[in-house]
Amino acid sequence: MSVNIIPMPNKIFEYDGEKVFKENDFFFEKKDGLGEEGYELLINQDGVFVSYSTDKGRFYAGKTLEQLKKKNGSLPFIRISDSPRFSYRAFMIDSARHMQSVDEIKKYIEAAALYKFNVFHWHLTDDQGWRVEIEKYPELTRVGAFRNGHGFGSKNKAVYGGYYTKDEIRDIVEFCRERYIDVIPEIDMPGHMIAAIASYPELSCSGKPIGVELNPGVHRTILCAGNEKVFDFCFDVIDEVCELFPYEYFHIGGDEAPKNRWDTCPKCKERIREEGLKNSEELQGYFVNRIIGHLKEKGKKAVVWNESLKSKMLQPGALVSDWMDKEHLCEDWANSGGKIIIEDFFHYYLDYNYGITPLKKTYSFNPMLEKLDIEGRKSVMGVETPIWTEFVENFDRLCYLCFPRMMAVAESGWTNWGRRNYRDFVRRAEANRRLLLSMGINMAPKKDWDPLPFGRIKDQLSHYTKFLTRENLRCVRANKKEDREAKKRKKGGAD
Ligand code: ACM
Ligand code: ZN
Repeated sequence: MSVNIIPMPNKIFEYDGEKVFKENDFFFEKKDGLGEEGYELLINQDGVFVSYSTDKGRFYAGKTLEQLKKKNGSLPFIRISDSPRFSYRAFMIDSARHMQSVDEIKKYIEAAALYKFNVFHWHLTDDQGWRVEIEKYPELTRVGAFRNGHGFGSKNKAVYGGYYTKDEIRDIVEFCRERYIDVIPEIDMPGHMIAAIASYPELSCSGKPIGVELNPGVHRTILCAGNEKVFDFCFDVIDEVCELFPYEYFHIGGDEAPKNRWDTCPKCKERIREEGLKNSEELQGYFVNRIIGHLKEKGKKAVVWNESLKSKMLQPGALVSDWMDKEHLCEDWANSGGKIIIEDFFHYYLDYNYGITPLKKTYSFNPMLEKLDIEGRKSVMGVETPIWTEFVENFDRLCYLCFPRMMAVAESGWTNWGRRNYRDFVRRAEANRRLLLSMGINMAPKKDWDPLPFGRIKDQLSHYTKFLTRENLRCVRANKKEDREAKKRKKGGAD
């Protein structure tokens, strides 16, 4: 192959010759049977002939043409018949840990559209920052959007923060709509809520004041599931956020919610008793299902991280994102008809340096699960690749980490497995550098994509030292002390 298209089209025949075409050499024909996202393209001496069944298919034909265009403006003679392997091809940006400007986000979206992604999952809230304006709860952006220092071990102690106004969010949603990208907001709950609890301390089990979090990792202060006011808060926030995002799905997180507080909170224990639940894990099931019920009333479906399967109570109809599922619950969910997407931590998490997740590792990962039966394979809607930003302070770093690895995920989401070829992908990715640069995206240098052993060791060491900050170690020690005391109490109780 000599064309530089990413993702590689599913059928392609190259012919000798190329030509610079004028505007009236392009012919567009709507025809049945090409699917929602499919298109056909024929380029020969007589012109450029594009067929499609929907405007989205026509848009994707345009994205292929953008990549086919050579430096001299000519297009190669070619025949393409194309449609995607998966209907759900998502990228996630964490704007909570570090924010990106509206222009930066648009640059990323423009590149994602070029590679035929069709979902932007926007992680808008977390322990370390609340980034969406909510009129009913002004403290979320007055208090929760700012942290007392850059955090994550940064030496910069100036206050860090900000948020997106509703108008800015509407602008981004419209920018995505024009590119056939659905936007799914994430309000992560019941864990990863410290920024909200810093704004409204009554939302936690203890009600104690707490600051917006400065450390990475998993934190024990979460929303109280025994307090009705917490549900009112979540419903109100969802109602306002839904007004901004007109799409079918809404991400409600559900990941990394330690149950230490719920296990000892009188209100949570009362809720467990009242609802006839077995334990705090089932309390999360109850919590998530109530939120899903509210979304349902609004005509929306929920996306959740795979931890929400642990209670075995998850409502049918939810879409589960498989990021780290050691218990293989996603397979059971998919085999019984539940929809899943593959967002594998070890291959698709782009915040890890290339020494930890080399490009080849991302590219070589087939987004299917081992234990899926025929029904289960049909339940895999697609792929998602996130960029978490605890250690991604600026857009240059974000682009370095995402490009070209997000392009590898784009190809896994679109191109049939047997048609992929790593060596050819590397050639095409490098050939895309100029185009990306013209869009304001600076890809990682090719020498960094697949580091040799020394580079891998260096990246692994730097990864572990990132977490050895004084504040983080203090946090880890405090958790250990709490665990020891809880153990002692339990032992005392048993005696
Ligand atoms: C996650 O990475 N906590 C979903
Ligand atoms: Zn509680």
